[in-house]
Amino acid sequence: MLTISGKTRYCGVIGDPIEHTASPAMHNAVFKKLGLDYVYLPFRVKREELGKAIEGMRALNIRGLNVTIPHKVAVIPFLDELDGLARKIGAVNTIVNDDGVLTGYNTDATGFRQALLERGIEPMGKKVVILGAGGASRAISFILAEQGANLTILNRTPDKARQCASMFSQREVRALELNRENLVEVLEKADILINATSVGMTPNIDETPVPFNLLKPDLTVFDIVYNPIKTRLLREAEQAGAKTITGLDMLLWQGALAFEKWTGVKAPIEVMRAEVIKGLTRS
Ligand code: ATR
Repeated sequence: MLTISGKTRYCGVIGDPIEHTASPAMHNAVFKKLGLDYVYLPFRVKREELGKAIEGMRALNIRGLNVTIPHKVAVIPFLDELDGLARKIGAVNTIVNDDGVLTGYNTDATGFRQALLERGIEPMGKKVVILGAGGASRAISFILAEQGANLTILNRTPDKARQCASMFSQREVRALELNRENLVEVLEKADILINATSVGMTPNIDETPVPFNLLKPDLTVFDIVYNPIKTRLLREAEQAGAKTITGLDMLLWQGALAFEKWTGVKAPIEVMRAEVIKGLTRS
């Protein structure tokens, strides 16, 4: 049980839905293990209440927030400062409150880069297909383009895929509608497939963004959905002989980098990894 006192500092996550977040379990376990006087809470914030929630963060002197679906892009106008990377990406997943000055960061991008590094994946020259064009997709696309990958973005709403691709004026990024015909075409030549949509997330665990027969052994499939840990897409990718990476990796690294910004303490990665797995297998 956490002991809360007048000196305890508050962190949390805002999103909608928020019921299935694994971040509170991960951060609270690590705060406790390291003896840090912090607590991390989930807040369900509706789209139309986002501005008030951010004002509340300032008024209540909340030290830090993570930002998740659907607020990563919409939160930007409510902040005082933007870190350079978050500005380029146009999405924020971490806010730090320094005496009332709110600064937005993007640890999804740096977390994704760490997750790839850890798995020994080198994006340079690879053909990468990214599904989705929301905040998470923007962060992943940006990092992959910076590392020299050859990107195609597919989204249910094709206009958003085009907006996402327009971030990269200096390089060619294809933007297409997410449909079977386009999937057939792009997956035939792809090296890496990344699901950055919420398709397959609890409670819709029987859904998958890609039909089984389009998956192949020479593909690496990365699903950023982490609840369930093994999504239908990842199960079927495994069956097809593809290499798979779960959403745990990105969850872990983005969380570790946010933790360091709020506390100034180096994140104990292996402790965090064990806690997040424990939390998710319990839920
Ligand atoms: P995040 O910040 O995590 O990226 P987001 O900005 O709300 O969240 O983006 C969610 C992504 O999942 C979007 O690309 C969304 O597609 P649309 O732009 O068409 O809304 C995608 N998505 C959500 N539900 C989907 C579904 N049932 N089928 C296909 N794509 C879906």
